[in-house]
Amino acid sequence: MKRTKVKELLTGFPVGEEVLVKGWVRTKRSIKEIVFIALNDGSTIKNIQIVAEGVKFGEQLLKDINTGAAIAVKGKLAESKGKEQPVEIIAEEIELYGKADPEIYPLQKKGHSLEFLREIAHLRFRTNTFGAIFRIRHAIAFAIHKYFNDKGFYYLHTPIITGSDCEGAGEMFRVTTLDFDNIPRNQEGKVDFSKDFFGKETNLTVSGQLEGELGALALGEIYTFGPTFRAENSNTPRHLAEFWMIEPEMAFYDINDNMDLAEDFLKYLTRYALENCRDDLEFLNNMFDKGLIERLEFILKNPFERITYTNAIEILKASGRKWEFPVEWGRDLQAEHERYLVEEYFKRPVIITDYPKEIKAFYMKLNDDGKTVKAMDVLFPGIGEVIGGSQREEDYNKLLNRIRELNMNEKDLWWYIDTRRFGSAPHSGFGLGLERFLIFLTGMTNIRDVIPFPRTPRNAEF
Ligand code: 4AD
Ligand code: MG
Repeated sequence: MKRTKVKELLTGFPVGEEVLVKGWVRTKRSIKEIVFIALNDGSTIKNIQIVAEGVKFGEQLLKDINTGAAIAVKGKLAESKGKEQPVEIIAEEIELYGKADPEIYPLQKKGHSLEFLREIAHLRFRTNTFGAIFRIRHAIAFAIHKYFNDKGFYYLHTPIITGSDCEGAGEMFRVTTLDFDNIPRNQEGKVDFSKDFFGKETNLTVSGQLEGELGALALGEIYTFGPTFRAENSNTPRHLAEFWMIEPEMAFYDINDNMDLAEDFLKYLTRYALENCRDDLEFLNNMFDKGLIERLEFILKNPFERITYTNAIEILKASGRKWEFPVEWGRDLQAEHERYLVEEYFKRPVIITDYPKEIKAFYMKLNDDGKTVKAMDVLFPGIGEVIGGSQREEDYNKLLNRIRELNMNEKDLWWYIDTRRFGSAPHSGFGLGLERFLIFLTGMTNIRDVIPFPRTPRNAEF
């Protein structure tokens, strides 16, 4: 007999049919000789109620069916007498796959803190909270592909192992097969990377953008969606050492087209979640963040504010606030500044453009003022920067000048610079941090709770 998922049983499945369900016990309670089991199989946050008559199954079996146990149940789908659920299964056969000893199984009925659940990340999928979060994460990953595919963008697989540092921040994890106990050295006494696996220094990518640009300058519109690595030693609720980034890159887009796409994309994903993850969002709304759904709906209805960096600095200076980090033209904005602009001043998402070139990466297009670049950061409530992007420098000489000014190794980037010699064209793109956006969508406050297995400084468990 074929197994039916709980989600299907709860959405108009014909009553009276014989069905087979398989899942994990959430709760069990007995009333006289009848045992009621709430069974969850991950297909939905809702459980199906199993009604088992004691006389049919024997005491031992029912005793072993505790919270966390895996079982299969065959029985008839019936209208439920209880008010809690529309239907239930009157059990005829029960098979116990795996017990979960109540003395040692950590996920008993009482609520656990998110901190505690991080320590048992191998089991936290079995809670309502993490079931909801990871179903939403899946839905968003799917929606990202759908959005771009429907628009005619191509999914480009950029490499994970690279020899360049796209963001120029030097926050890279090295990839090597050199023997650490016997490191080859050159005449100057430096490590001889010509003996390494790739014959040169390599690292895990911090961004697929540079390779993405190569694709966009031929395929027109592309996007990447993959794991990204940053060895920045920031232990914050917004930073991961391994996160997932979505990077669209488009030929013939200027900075305004880029902003329009970013806004449309974020609204599309938010709408997708509201339309397709309703049960899970309602659960998170009720359990953690009573303003969650309202906030998501607000985003859809209102245009994002668009201001220049210079304008943002003026607003922050005029605020009369005492800042932990100084506000001064030329300095980067900190989380406290970003959150003030979004949460207090404009009370909506804000796109900041035209940052000083010194605080942005080498590839951004220089403005006519010679001081600022066509950068854009999208700031969201509760998180700050969710997207970073820009129009790219397509002028060969300007790009080369900037690379030299920054003392970057132009030999490593020959292939990138080369695209500006042949059929160069205006183009733009941005990067969305998947987990940053999921913090916003789920109402979680720590990025470690929206990725299955967080990688952070001093933590690579699981
Ligand atoms: O602003 P970033 O560094 O931009 C880039 O990497 C560009 N190459 C993107 C592009 O234009 N194609 O990173 C982009 C986004 C940030 O806005 C943030 O959402 C996320 O990636 N991000 C992180 N998310 C989690 N943990 C970290 N350590 C992150 N660093 C960046
Ligand atoms: Mg950034």
